[in-house]
Parts: sequence; structure tokens; C-alpha cells
Amino acid sequence: SAGGSLYERIGPEALEALVTRFYALVARDPDLAPIFPDDLTLTAEKQLAFLTGFLGGPPLYHQHFGPPRLRARHLPHAITPTRGQAWLACMARALQDTPQIGEAEARELHAALSRVAAHMVNTPEGKA
Ligand code: HEM
Repeated sequence: SAGGSLYERIGPEALEALVTRFYALVARDPDLAPIFPDDLTLTAEKQLAFLTGFLGGPPLYHQHFGPPRLRARHLPHAITPTRGQAWLACMARALQDTPQIGEAEARELHAALSRVAAHMVNTPEGKA
């Protein structure tokens, strides 16, 4: 669909479906599961809130949890290049498995998240 923010083009239901699929994949990923909590409920809520604002919708993360400061919030976690790639691979797969999200929107979202993910890498390979 034409025009509007990526949030409007994707819609809240499809975004929630995406986030749910994404964390189901994260929980099964051998590189990622060890650094995430066993219960991903709150993590998924925070991610949905963040993505809503990031994609041009209401700034829910900011309202509920304060300034995102994402790089700082990730510093306690050893994010190697391998984990960055694993994160993006889970996202690519979750996008493929969410047919409500059109191809153009999926491509744009993945490109935007690739840039953020590169910024989150904070640990050299082999130091995790
Ligand atoms: C939180 C890993 C990239 C957004 C977290 C947490 C981990 C993590 C371990 C803590 C989970 C918890 O305790 O609830 C990673 C890894 C990434 C990555 C390995 C690979 C590069 C990203 C990207 C985004 C993002 C690209 C944004 C698009 C968030 C948000 C939180 C979070 C919003 C919740 C922060 C909070 O505690 O309030 N991430 N992350 N992450 N991540 Fe990431």
C-alpha cells in the first residue's frame, strides 16, 4: 500500500505477529538463546513498543520505559558479530513467516533493522 509510515503500512496486528514469531525463533537459536531470559514475555512487549515508535507509530516505548538508549541498554549483553547476524536471520525468517507483511514493507523493515543491529554489536568475536 502506498504512503504513510511503515507502521501504518504494516499495521499493529501484523507487527505483533512478527514480534511473536521473532522471539519464538530467538528462543530456539543456539547463538541467541543463552543471552536472553527464559521468559521472553516482557522482552517481546518492549520490542513491540519500541518498533511501534521506531516505524512511525505512537512512541510507546518512550512512554512506558523512558528513552530507548538502545546501545547502552545492550551493553550488559555480549553482542558479537555472529549474534548480530543471528538476530537479523531470525528477523528475516519471522518476516517471511508473516504473510500479512508485504514484500516491500518487509524489505524496508529489514534494511532499517540491519542498521540498528550493526550499531548494537559491542563485543569482538570470540570474547563472548
Ligand atoms: C533487549 C539482544 C538487536 C531492541 C535485548 C536483550 C538482549 C538483546 C539480550 C535483553 C532482553 C531482556 O532482558 O529482556 C540483542 C542482540 C541483537 C539485538 C543479540 C543483535 C544485534 C536489537 C535491535 C533492536 C533491539 C536491532 C531494535 C530494533 C531491543 C529492545 C530491548 C532489547 C527494545 C528491550 C530493552 C529494555 O530492556 O527495555 N536485546 N538485541 N535489539 N532489544 Fe535487543
